[in-house]
Amino acid sequence: LTRTVLGLPGFTGGFSFSSAAALAAARKVLISDPIDPICVSTFESAGFEVDARDKVPADELVELIKSYDALVVRSGTQVTSEVLAAGAGKLRVVGRAGTGVDNIDVDAATASGIMVMNTPGGNTTSAAELTVSLLMALSRDIPNATTSLKSGKWERKKYMGTELEGKTLGLVGLGQIGRRVAAICRAMGMRTIGYDPLMSADAAAAEAIEAVDLDAVWAEADFISLHTPLTAETRSLVDANTLSKCKPGVRIVNCARGGIVDEAALLDALNSGHVAGAALDVYESEPPPEAIKPLLEHERCICTPHLGASTEEAQHKVAHDIASQIVDVFEDRAVRGV
Ligand code: NAD
Ligand code: MLT
Repeated sequence: LTRTVLGLPGFTGGFSFSSAAALAAARKVLISDPIDPICVSTFESAGFEVDARDKVPADELVELIKSYDALVVRSGTQVTSEVLAAGAGKLRVVGRAGTGVDNIDVDAATASGIMVMNTPGGNTTSAAELTVSLLMALSRDIPNATTSLKSGKWERKKYMGTELEGKTLGLVGLGQIGRRVAAICRAMGMRTIGYDPLMSADAAAAEAIEAVDLDAVWAEADFISLHTPLTAETRSLVDANTLSKCKPGVRIVNCARGGIVDEAALLDALNSGHVAGAALDVYESEPPPEAIKPLLEHERCICTPHLGASTEEAQHKVAHDIASQIVDVFEDRAVRGV
């Protein structure tokens, strides 16, 4: 059975009784961080009432949240237990347009029966491409060579690099991004080894990654790339002890989460020369404080300001995905990204 609705913007066809009910209920969604416009239009085409803001102060959010069925955030909004307690009863979903849910108190949400979802895969390509860019920038010292030439020097002998082909890449975390990085690096002729407690040796082999234990990653890798969330197990995973197990001259990339690398230990290892280079996109505290300037300013450290997902494509995908995933929840369709 279908009926035609007149005067409903953008509505061009028939609809079922279930979508009629959803429209009548006019679900309300709050978007509390800047986001690609596709997020708003996806919600609006599904009949949601959208309140899109660039920033909501913490105390205001606790009051505001009470009248919304769903909340969409990127990384700016802290979804604390206080916010979730205030929303409980009406708020059904908190959606993160991105991968990490570090800014959402997931335990408190679960305790209040509020679903937390992210957008798996939405920024995989962009994060993997930045990771590989950093591996290549490290292997050829591109930032320093650029600065040198821009300052009027011509130092061809100084910038002697190393090839990636034939080298061993050790991946920690073989989820979406770790596997994509492996695929790109294999195409460049690298040997790819990796550790992930949730991935069987057979599943890794199907991706042409040799599953190894962590000690083998430290011992065998010429380049190490980290792709795990920050958890109790991964906090300071790369510290003075693990660095001492790495090959002299190892190069390390962290495009995952600050805190996985002990920043003081990394600086010591760069200073001693044991680590030949490091590339960081993420920091224990963001923006990084003055105290880690010696690391950021180290000649063999490349640093970017958390740019892994900063492409037009990734921002479009995560904004679209989170809206359509939330619409699915309210339309009783299969739930994704939980
Ligand atoms: P994912 O969930 O697909 O993969 C994470 C993998 O880490 C999983 O396979 C999991 O089993 C594994 N893992 C968990 N604990 C581990 C441990 N102790 N040792 C080894 N492996 C472990 O996530 P993803 O999309 O691949 O993202 C990976 C990381 O990159 C996340 O921290 C995410 O927040 C971060 N990220 C950063 C940027 C950026 O802008 N720099 C962009 C996207 C994602
Ligand atoms: C993520 O977890 O998705 C990334 O860190 C990028 C972001 O914060 O947007």
